[in-house]
Amino acid sequence: MIDITAGPAVEDSSGDLLAVHVFADRTLSPGAEWVATQLGDWLDAHFDSVEFDGKAGQMTSVPGAGSVPFGTVTFVGLGDEVDAEGLRRAAGSLGRSTCKAKKVVTTLHQVDVDGAAEYVSLGFLLGQYRFDKYRTEPKPSVTESLTLARADEAATAEIARGSAIAAGTTLARDLVNEPPIGKPPVEMARIAESLIAEGSPLQVKVYDENESLEERFGGLLGVAAGATNPPRMVVFDYQPDDAVGFVAFVGKGIVFDSGGLSLKPPAAMETMKTDMSGAAAVFGAIRAIAELGLPVRVMGIAPITENMPSGSATRPGDVLTIRNGKTIEVLNTDAEGRLVLADGLSLAAEAEPDLIVDVATLTGACAVALGPRVGGLFANDDEAAARVEAAAKRAGEDVWRLPMPAEYRKLIDSPIADMKNTGGRYGGAITAALLLKEFVGEIPWAHLDIAGPARSSDAENYVTKGGTGFGVRTLVEIAASFAE
Ligand code: BES
Ligand code: MN
Ligand code: ZN
Repeated sequence: MIDITAGPAVEDSSGDLLAVHVFADRTLSPGAEWVATQLGDWLDAHFDSVEFDGKAGQMTSVPGAGSVPFGTVTFVGLGDEVDAEGLRRAAGSLGRSTCKAKKVVTTLHQVDVDGAAEYVSLGFLLGQYRFDKYRTEPKPSVTESLTLARADEAATAEIARGSAIAAGTTLARDLVNEPPIGKPPVEMARIAESLIAEGSPLQVKVYDENESLEERFGGLLGVAAGATNPPRMVVFDYQPDDAVGFVAFVGKGIVFDSGGLSLKPPAAMETMKTDMSGAAAVFGAIRAIAELGLPVRVMGIAPITENMPSGSATRPGDVLTIRNGKTIEVLNTDAEGRLVLADGLSLAAEAEPDLIVDVATLTGACAVALGPRVGGLFANDDEAAARVEAAAKRAGEDVWRLPMPAEYRKLIDSPIADMKNTGGRYGGAITAALLLKEFVGEIPWAHLDIAGPARSSDAENYVTKGGTGFGVRTLVEIAASFAE
């Protein structure tokens, strides 16, 4: 892990790369002003030639050329006014570009944003992310350290917060990027157990396939019926002595979604290792929350299985009985996420938390509606929705609330069971959410459909190609909101 520390002013620093910020219309920050003076008059001509004027998202590098004790100087544009997310993004772009510099020094955190050092640390670490383990010739980043020049007293705690959230997000990305063969449910459970440190208030209980039967996890077992690899139900419980609230997170953990007997076409299967991104977000958030020692009780529930076709697979027309006793007629085995979540949500509701939040790559419909960067938010309670919206805003993750009209409930009426698992093409994200609602009882609940933002087809600011870790930061902020 890259070492992030507070250091002396730029004038008294040295390293391989110095990153200073510039505001709109080439308004130089004090750090940039100092380097510009050292470098000399040619800098303006360089800015002209690369059309760098300090807009957010712009970046340009020049050699230190012996004028400053840095091999490279990078100018990072921040635009007119920068906020937390602007800072994460700028630091993310910087992190993606500095992989050939060992020692990086920056002034980015010196802007007028509360908690700036956290956002710079987080963005930088996420931008540095690589998933190289399956390359015979990995090209890892050589960056060893990031020094925040002239950081104040508060910076140390901010750096720690940013680093803990980055570590949780990195765990989620690693899990999502891992090929399906490398993450069968048993392996996912082993990773969950590896997060438990001695003396920590974090515990985990793993239910195997036999225990899942005893516990009546009918949705999980129904989806797992076609798979050779057995399922697992992972239940984290983080219970610090000073807990002031109780939140339960539930994450969809389909390690590969073939669609089951309602088989997906080949192209649609290509990215279906991503279908455990909800579980990955829960793992990552739990890790970060425990590391930060937040004074909140957090339960983290992840039903984990493959969705595969075979002679033993659940058939369209079969009826499953979920843990809370309700029955679901399975008409499309590719609508499997809601089946495993039904068990997870039932389990969460039994614990009677103040709030349940589930995270799932649930519907293509939601990705179609909101695109690749925005998650869908559904809730049975306006206060819960407001809390999640505010948390997502603080986290810099975009979510948009969608409605759950009661009159759509009839779209999932079944002729023989309590409900069916598909509601037709129109409003597909909504009918999925309406099914989930049946399993939370009266507990305030929010559902995040992250089918769009869970993975990215390109690298942009701190977002790298592949799994994004979307949801980790929002879940951490939700937990933190109870601690305030
Ligand atoms: N895992 C998919 C949803 C998905 C699609 C996530 C694309 C990410 C990208 C889910 O299990 C699924 O297959 N949903 C179906 C539901 C339908 C059969 C009612 C869908 O969205 O088509
Ligand atoms: Mn599916
Ligand atoms: Zn799925």
